[in-house]
Amino acid sequence: MSAIALLRDKRIILGVCGSIAAYKAADLASKLTQAGASVDVVMTEAAQRFVSPLTFQALSGRPVYTDMWRAEFGGGLPSHIAHIGLAERADLMVVAPATANTLAKLAGGLADDLLTVTALAIACPLMIAPAMDGGMYDHPAVQANREILSSRGAHVIEPESGRFASGLVGAGRLPETAALIGHIRRVLGRDGELAGHKLVVTAGGTREALDPVRFITNRSTGKQGYAIAQAALDAGAEVVLISTTAHLPTPVGARKVTVGSAESMKDAVLAHVADSSALIMAAAVADYTPRTVSEQKIKKSDKSLTLPLTRTPDILMAVKAQRAQTGYPMIVVGFAAESENLVENASGKLQSKGLDLLVANDITADDAGFAADTNRVVVLDMDGGLHSIERTSKDNIGAYIIERVGGLLE
Ligand code: CTP
Repeated sequence: MSAIALLRDKRIILGVCGSIAAYKAADLASKLTQAGASVDVVMTEAAQRFVSPLTFQALSGRPVYTDMWRAEFGGGLPSHIAHIGLAERADLMVVAPATANTLAKLAGGLADDLLTVTALAIACPLMIAPAMDGGMYDHPAVQANREILSSRGAHVIEPESGRFASGLVGAGRLPETAALIGHIRRVLGRDGELAGHKLVVTAGGTREALDPVRFITNRSTGKQGYAIAQAALDAGAEVVLISTTAHLPTPVGARKVTVGSAESMKDAVLAHVADSSALIMAAAVADYTPRTVSEQKIKKSDKSLTLPLTRTPDILMAVKAQRAQTGYPMIVVGFAAESENLVENASGKLQSKGLDLLVANDITADDAGFAADTNRVVVLDMDGGLHSIERTSKDNIGAYIIERVGGLLE
């Protein structure tokens, strides 16, 4: 797990209850710590029967809180008010896994252990990820408690369905760490500088059908677009992700619209930008598409095959026309994939497509551009500004682009 800017130095209280899913909480503590957060783990007595406090201590690099009455946990504070110290400095409290018992205690305002006492003392948001074995989550008592907590503003993460330790199947599994971190990012980013703004991000290479089984595409994987979508979510934006790829996990909170061809991407983009603050056009859109799509699978009857191609619509040009009429989207960011004369070609595209920002990739490098986890780009703006970013993660590039969009929207 690499550093996540949004999580850097954030103080997160992780409350762990007595469920077999407590082992997943150890992974969560580890990943949050690696991402840059400071994680204070509070365990119920039952949780310690599943995973030892030492595990959490080793993974978080911090003391683990298990008992309201133990003197060593007070730090400078009298031990019985350790929870107040924890609560005062927290940015978020996450209870994961939350058992039916702790859920009930939280709903009822009970405070008979350090976890529940702390939950009453916090002023920060509370996130609860219930996990329990077959059938329990659907019980009306559990559902009533869940509703009470939700109505009081707690963020309750729906458990996943699947097979339990008991062998039963149903809803009640703790989501995977990546999903939990996605929810945590959503809550911590909610008041970011793009709160109240809708952003449309496109990602991936379009697929131009030849026949029912084949299509023409390109080497784009969508990674840069997904990283931009995540950065926008971290900044508090509402995000519509128009994507051609199915293999990347959708960032938590993004609304994904799946498209295939350039034509279908154009329709989706024009519809979604109509009320949006910004469009970030990271998709690699095909310039040509087969003139006709064969209804049947094309057979290998001839020695050679010539495919007549025709131009696709230029989506950014269509957006330019729509924006001239409506004023939306307020900001448009384009990309340029270049194999030569990078800056010259890119500034031509910035002008002709009416962009506010253009992110130019040199696609000839192995460690940047298509499919890589890293990228190296030059960002051009309307005022002739030129900013080079040396090779770094696509996440960092996404964060930079979003910061620039935020600046333009101000
Ligand atoms: N783009 C688009 N519609 C197309 C082709 C590209 O909206 N039919 C967008 C891309 O998403 C990108 C920008 O235009 O944001 C530049 O794409 P690029 O492939 O670099 O340039 P093209 O306009 O296709 O020109 P060329 O391939 O001739 O360099």
